[in-house]
Amino acid sequence: FNVPTPENEPILGYAPGSKERELLKAALAEARSKKGDIPMYIGGKAVHTDKKGTVTPPHDHQHVLAQYSIGDKTHVQQAIDAALAAKPQWENLPWEQRAAIFLKIAELISGPYRYKLNAATMLGQSKNAYQAEIDAACELIDFLRFNVSYMADIYKQQPPVSPKGVWNRVEQRPLEGFVFALTPFNFTAIAANLPTSAALMGNVVVWKPADTQVYAANLLMEIFREAGLPDGVINLVYVDGPEAGEVIFNSPDFAGIHFTGSTAVFQNIWKTIGTNIHKYKTYPRIVGETGGKDFILVHGSADAEVSSTAIIRGAFEYQGQKCSAASRTYIAKSLWPKIKELMLRDLATFKMGGTEDFSNFINAVIDDRSFTKLAKYIDQAKADKGVEIIAGGNYDKSKGYFIEPTVLVVDDPKYTTMSEELFGPVLTVYVYDDADFDQVLTLIDTTSGYALTGAVIAQDRYAIDKASYALRNAAGNFYINDKCTGAVVGQQPFGGARGSGTNDKAGSMINLLRWASPRTIKETF
Ligand code: NAD
Ligand code: ALA
Repeated sequence: FNVPTPENEPILGYAPGSKERELLKAALAEARSKKGDIPMYIGGKAVHTDKKGTVTPPHDHQHVLAQYSIGDKTHVQQAIDAALAAKPQWENLPWEQRAAIFLKIAELISGPYRYKLNAATMLGQSKNAYQAEIDAACELIDFLRFNVSYMADIYKQQPPVSPKGVWNRVEQRPLEGFVFALTPFNFTAIAANLPTSAALMGNVVVWKPADTQVYAANLLMEIFREAGLPDGVINLVYVDGPEAGEVIFNSPDFAGIHFTGSTAVFQNIWKTIGTNIHKYKTYPRIVGETGGKDFILVHGSADAEVSSTAIIRGAFEYQGQKCSAASRTYIAKSLWPKIKELMLRDLATFKMGGTEDFSNFINAVIDDRSFTKLAKYIDQAKADKGVEIIAGGNYDKSKGYFIEPTVLVVDDPKYTTMSEELFGPVLTVYVYDDADFDQVLTLIDTTSGYALTGAVIAQDRYAIDKASYALRNAAGNFYINDKCTGAVVGQQPFGGARGSGTNDKAGSMINLLRWASPRTIKETF
């Protein structure tokens, strides 16, 4: 069988007066007024419990959008049992039948569900319309369509050599057991990709999203079901992370984890799996996309406008809460006055507020915990010598968790905000002498233990080449004359190494192969 050749989903513009803007506004109004109880889904059944959590927009935290049912260890065990019960039929379904389900999910999101899913992401995760569109619509649809095509390529791979009288072949089997998908708050596309990529390869899944992403996760599950995903293939539970982990990582049928989230959580999970390794039937696959301390390096030969735009967009889109967001920049002294002027010019035009007002570029950070952490760093910066705050520095959580886009300029290139992941709209700038370019490359490489994304902005080809080589281990996604965010599925496979993950490149054949276990068969005639 051939599958459709994937193409990237076009981005809708939501211009004022456009039909698409009206449809999105209607979806937002509906989502805002909809109160209900969001269930878990186990074995295809909606499960309600007495323990409730609330879904509130981060930019309007007193407005309850919905309640959701919180489960416990029993529900996690039920989800494992349901997954294992669904496994024999699912893994024996021909792969093109599985492909059809995931292609249909892409169609549903590209069509009737686009506005609903964008609205859920705008309200639940405080993304503006453009950020929701490139995530919940485009990136998610791309993941589904490209993964189907990569899966087809895997199954159609060139067989091994078979000498006369022998037929050698390699069969790609699903993993023996279930896969645990543990997803973060910041991308609806990632929340969908982690369970679906494993399921596409014939695996059964227990999926636990972040508490702050329940609104979009629930809608995703409804779409999966409408597309015909059989009961029990993906089971969605809302259970406290460590509590869920106690059941999952003690199960003999645990066969793999597809994780995206913070480095600390992933490292703890890895340790737990190590401790329990003797309990499992098979060595579990461990795939994790984790934190970052992403950089933009501006060489003295760079274009100032290009640099300023890359820095501002890279640092402040979605309030700096992309794993790929620029949070440290190194700028050549000769260009700094011009770049600073341009950055301050653009920052002055940014409006901050709720996502329902389409003119707001900056919305809220995800929750009180994140707000408090960011406010602490800003207060510390205000108190510390050698740190100048040239933009922002204010915060207010009376209505929503709002932090102004903040720019710190530091004397010490090893200042805390140059090495620690803050995950918010706080950018740190270090201005270096143009002659110290080589030393700055070493600084970038050694200042943080992360290696997710990074960029160099320069016209000088020798400088680009030098940076590209010196920083080859400092970023899994490296950009030249561009911002360090916005990887597109099928174009820039995404993932980092060092403290940033196992670099299994989301939305790629590399990633899909992690959800398959090959069996070699030799037949002699
Ligand atoms: P997080 O680590 O707090 O949570 C991720 C998931 O793990 C959530 O579902 C959470 O409920 C669960 N969890 C938390 N503690 C747990 C525990 N002790 N045991 C089991 N489960 C637990 O991450 P987040 O705040 O949702 O997301 C932001 C982080 O994700 C940032 O560090 C960001 O860099 C990273 N991220 C990385 C990538 C990438 O591609 N590298 C992409 C997106 C996000
Ligand atoms: N595709 C997202 C980005 O690169 C993760 O920002």
